[in-house]
Amino acid sequence: MRKVDLLRMKRAASVSMIFVLSASMLAGCEKKGEDKKETKDPYKNAIFRDAKASTEDRVKDLMSKMDIKDKVAQMIMAERNVEGGGAAYNMVTQYGLGAMLSGGGSAPVTGNEAQDWNDEINKYKEAASESKFGIPILYGVDSVHGNSNVYGTTIFPHQIGLGATDDEDLVERIGNITASETRAIGSNYAFSPVLGVAYDEHWGRFYECFGENTDLVTRLGTAYVNGLQGRKDSDDFMSQDHLLCSIKHFVGEGQVKNGYNQGNVEMDEKEWDDKLKNDIIKPYVSAIEAGAKTLMVSYNSINGVNCHENKELITDYLKGELGFKGIVISDYDGVEHCKGSDYKFQLRDCVNAGVDMLMEPLDWQNCYHTLLNLVRDGSVSEERIDDAVSRILTVKFDSGLFEEEINSKKEQDQMKQIGSDEHRAVAREAVSKSLTLLKNEKMSDGNTAIQDLAAANKIAVMGEAADDIGTQCGGWTISWTGNKGKTTIGTTILEGFKEVAKDKEFEYVDSAEHISDGTQAVVIVAGEDPYSETQGDSTGFGLFLDDEGTTMITEAKEKFGDSIPIVVILVTGRPLTLKDNIDNIDALMSAWLPGSECAGIADVLFGDKEFSGKTPVTWPVTSFDISDKLTDDSVVLFKYGTGLKKDGSAI
Ligand code: BGC
Ligand code: BGC
Repeated sequence: MRKVDLLRMKRAASVSMIFVLSASMLAGCEKKGEDKKETKDPYKNAIFRDAKASTEDRVKDLMSKMDIKDKVAQMIMAERNVEGGGAAYNMVTQYGLGAMLSGGGSAPVTGNEAQDWNDEINKYKEAASESKFGIPILYGVDSVHGNSNVYGTTIFPHQIGLGATDDEDLVERIGNITASETRAIGSNYAFSPVLGVAYDEHWGRFYECFGENTDLVTRLGTAYVNGLQGRKDSDDFMSQDHLLCSIKHFVGEGQVKNGYNQGNVEMDEKEWDDKLKNDIIKPYVSAIEAGAKTLMVSYNSINGVNCHENKELITDYLKGELGFKGIVISDYDGVEHCKGSDYKFQLRDCVNAGVDMLMEPLDWQNCYHTLLNLVRDGSVSEERIDDAVSRILTVKFDSGLFEEEINSKKEQDQMKQIGSDEHRAVAREAVSKSLTLLKNEKMSDGNTAIQDLAAANKIAVMGEAADDIGTQCGGWTISWTGNKGKTTIGTTILEGFKEVAKDKEFEYVDSAEHISDGTQAVVIVAGEDPYSETQGDSTGFGLFLDDEGTTMITEAKEKFGDSIPIVVILVTGRPLTLKDNIDNIDALMSAWLPGSECAGIADVLFGDKEFSGKTPVTWPVTSFDISDKLTDDSVVLFKYGTGLKKDGSAI
């Protein structure tokens, strides 16, 4: 078990003790809260409450009234109330916490329907409105491919699939819908998009990126930000149709050695400086210009220094040289990634490096008290706290949070639109556009394998992933890691086939042996099971197509030879080694991690739509070739940008 996990468990145990104590203490506070409601609001006429006053004046006024405890509380982001930690509603009121989150899969105890989330998040917002100054909270969720924690929402392809579409307009529309479905549950803050430039597909977060090309990441990342927040110079910017986003993770996560999640970037100083400033910074700069107001620090280190404690990077470069005025937020338990020997030193170094908001989900009380002590003993200056808090308040004022009605009529309307046909149609379009045809052989009749598939009347379908919503959605869906099975509402690849090509017969079999006579084409769906973060890291021998996939392909070829097309659809977050299979495949495509609307695949294979996806990553012959794939063509199976059409020509 990693140190951080151990720490998390230890802390969880101690937090639950604090919990027992604070529950009884808080019983008293609730009473005080009731008294408070009856007394007149002392800040009713304060400048900070005046929507017409300038943000600068409002921040100044509010800060002048806040004491150090109020300020430190604004810097905290706590997890919702979960066993072992988090913050209950009354703690938000009592402390005046700045922000809350639901981590991956952290659904309300009442259930995982949108209404459960809406009820809970609005109770947190009410709790914040009853705090000393009534400063609204940010409530963050990982809406990384749609509002993907919540049952019944529209789940879009993961970013790697959107990279294959290279379609900025589509990505912006996806951002719009994601914002609306996230706003619907009361959340005003999405931890998205990922702007890392992916390089080594051993990395378990490869699929969270748009691809390996900085220009592609820059264009699509900016489009996503425009979609989530609204266009900067329009009336729509940060309207109730949109929300704040956190661009993440800053910076270098795609460059770590061997693709280890949370690993280390090993480059000499000059090489790193050049890589950072002339290359991988571009997506961030462009997103910030488009109005991105918050940025999440990355778990990785650069030459041994974790980004969370890198003052040169955060304060000197990002806030100084690049002039970033927004909020820098730490990643989940990110403080513990600093090298200090004790939590106190880790927190000191993290805040002094320039982190403004601390995502300390279960452990937030420890964070709060430790930070107060660090200010008291002079280890963290009041100026640093003031800088952090004024950034937080500026973003809150600028995005209209103080004027927002809790559970507005608009929000209730948005609830009705969750998973609507209109939203799902856009996801289906994205699935079609991301489908990337990599190989399409000519068959003996002179047609391509894909043309023969389209003409076939009787088609055999194999592979668990063909009929599995959970696998198609991948990680960060309903739970943190994602799960196989019928985890949410949607259409599987097989269901899509039947829906779109009603006149054809589809026979779903578990092995080539069971394919019946008269079959005119075989479709095999294979790839990866869901995973997220470090758990998805695949090193050494990893990244080969699994045995199940290989067996299906080999047996189908043995049985049919070249007589009918053997078509393979990969459901995968990254290139897989196909060396032993490629000769047995007549047509190969990657659907990436398509999400909930897989009829989009049938729209291309059996409908009028043409293929338009192009691989956003260079596909090596084997996973051992990854380190050479950008410099040696002989180890490349499919070049960056490869994408074929139905007739076999290149897009
Ligand atoms: C991930 C972030 C995510 C956060 C909150 C972290 O583990 O690295 O991408 O936003 O958790 O769930
Ligand atoms: C949380 C995720 C978070 C992860 C960090 C999980 O327990 O649910 O949101 O990203 O821990 O390691």
